[in-house]
Amino acid sequence: MWTELADRLTAALSGVDPGSGTVVEFGAGTGLGTDVLLDTLYPAPLLVAEPSAHLRAVLLARLSDRHDTDRVTVFPCGATQLPLPERVAAAIGMHMIGHLAPAERRALFSALMPRLAPGAPVVFNVQPPGTAVEVPEFPPFGVTVGRLRYEGTGRAVPIGPDRLRWTMTYRTLDGDIEIARAVTEYDWWTVSASTLAAELTQAGAATVRIDDDLVIARAAVTEAHRREQI
Ligand SMILES: C[S@@+](CC[C@H](N)C(=O)[O-])C[C@H]1O[C@@H](n2cnc3c(N)ncnc32)[C@H](O)[C@@H]1O
Repeated sequence: MWTELADRLTAALSGVDPGSGTVVEFGAGTGLGTDVLLDTLYPAPLLVAEPSAHLRAVLLARLSDRHDTDRVTVFPCGATQLPLPERVAAAIGMHMIGHLAPAERRALFSALMPRLAPGAPVVFNVQPPGTAVEVPEFPPFGVTVGRLRYEGTGRAVPIGPDRLRWTMTYRTLDGDIEIARAVTEYDWWTVSASTLAAELTQAGAATVRIDDDLVIARAAVTEAHRREQI
């Protein structure tokens, strides 16, 4: 998933001036996107929101293997609790926008837009389903490490007009024997790329481009900034 996404995200970040402000990442998870930001936007500082203690532990372990850890600050909070920097060079949120209710989403966009450096991008992606329909359990995805196999699967039921409740099941298998099982539930607000684009425009984005599942909004480029670039 990330192999292809990393290239598309890098392309969406083209033209960012790493000296124009802080790069913000919402819901970094284990840090696959954080790596892209650190590698692409050197030497910009990063401000990251990651509410899950488990995923933060993996993220911090990943960061500790890098030489540029001092560029990243990880806050233990959700996107709407993150104290936004005064000037934002770029902001991203991958596979996470459905964790925000529509009002939270719009509040986040309104807080973000006035802080963007001229021409700075804001990149989110959307995931199917775009509407609240039942999702039957999908075939397990997994990985084998040593002699054990780790598998995950999930299913979702609608619990509102634009809201799903996902149930995820993670199993650890030793051959055919299940030796551990964890079940977790979370709610997810469905949103289409076009709705996200409209909300970002409403919040003040100068341009919004949809590239399949990616929604890329940009702040206006001022005349003064254009002159600086020449
Ligand atoms: C599917 S993971 C995606 C992680 C990472 N962005 C990636 O693409 O690999 C969703 C992430 O959103 C985080 N999350 C959950 N609620 C959130 C919220 N209110 N604000 C920001 N992130 C949230 C989860 O903890 C998790 O790290």
